[in-house]
Amino acid sequence: MREEIEELISEGAIANRLDEMARAIDADYPNQSLLVIGILNGTILFLSDLVRKISRPLKLDFVGVSSYRDGRESGNLTWTKELSECPSGSHVLIIEDILETGKTLNAVMDAISKKSPASLKTCVLLNKSVDRTFPIEPDYTGFSIGNEFVVGFGLDYAGRYRNLPFIGILHLHENDAPDPSSRNANQSSNSNKIAVSVQFWSVYQGIAGTNQAEIHVPQGTSLDDFKLKAAELWPGLKLHLGSMLIAVGNDYCEGKYILSEGDALSLFPPVQGG
Ligand code: IMP
Ligand code: MG
Repeated sequence: MREEIEELISEGAIANRLDEMARAIDADYPNQSLLVIGILNGTILFLSDLVRKISRPLKLDFVGVSSYRDGRESGNLTWTKELSECPSGSHVLIIEDILETGKTLNAVMDAISKKSPASLKTCVLLNKSVDRTFPIEPDYTGFSIGNEFVVGFGLDYAGRYRNLPFIGILHLHENDAPDPSSRNANQSSNSNKIAVSVQFWSVYQGIAGTNQAEIHVPQGTSLDDFKLKAAELWPGLKLHLGSMLIAVGNDYCEGKYILSEGDALSLFPPVQGG
């Protein structure tokens, strides 16, 4: 896959918007100091730029949250870093990079509200227009965006692109010039097809428009080949292929795995608070 990034929000536009957000935050807490809590890792650039523009006194803390999947239940969140400061009695402002289903922010809000903060507000850089599983409206939003996969300014794709100074839409293209030898290899094995079932989990159900499908692929199809096929059949999944987790039966498998007749594939998104 060739990756291409189309600039969506420029460095300058981000800086201007962060000025406005910081002014709004200062105005909303005229006499209070703040405990700013960032959700790792995606918030680091946003948070560090934003807090430098806030003039109220504040303390910083971070939490780490990522999603754990056991092949059946999708998206159990696990904490990779707990708070260092006790938020009890503090005016807490949670900072998140991007709000999608709301699961991550919801979990962090839940955990912090149990510790009796004096107040609790949320601030997100990007608010994706998707059907929210957890109905959260952030108190401060940098930008509302469409349902596109974005990278940069802290946001990653498979761990990369966090250091871009702007926010861009990630486009994945199938390689323009496929290797002719591999094409021949595919053709010769095309005569014998095998059937596999595909089960979609979590947000993939909405993206694919179905929970389950049965498809036929040439013998010798690897999981990597399957991903290309999946991108053809369900184009919405294209942007997710790099981070998709695939289990065959009950076990996660690598891209090299060769599919067999009757294999039951489960596709999981790697929801992460990172
Ligand atoms: P939620 O828990 O479904 O709201 O997902 C929020 C988390 O998913 C964010 O903290 C990000 O780490 C990640 N995420 C969601 N959408 C994107 C995206 O477009 N680019 C990069 N990361 C994303
Ligand atoms: Mg995040």
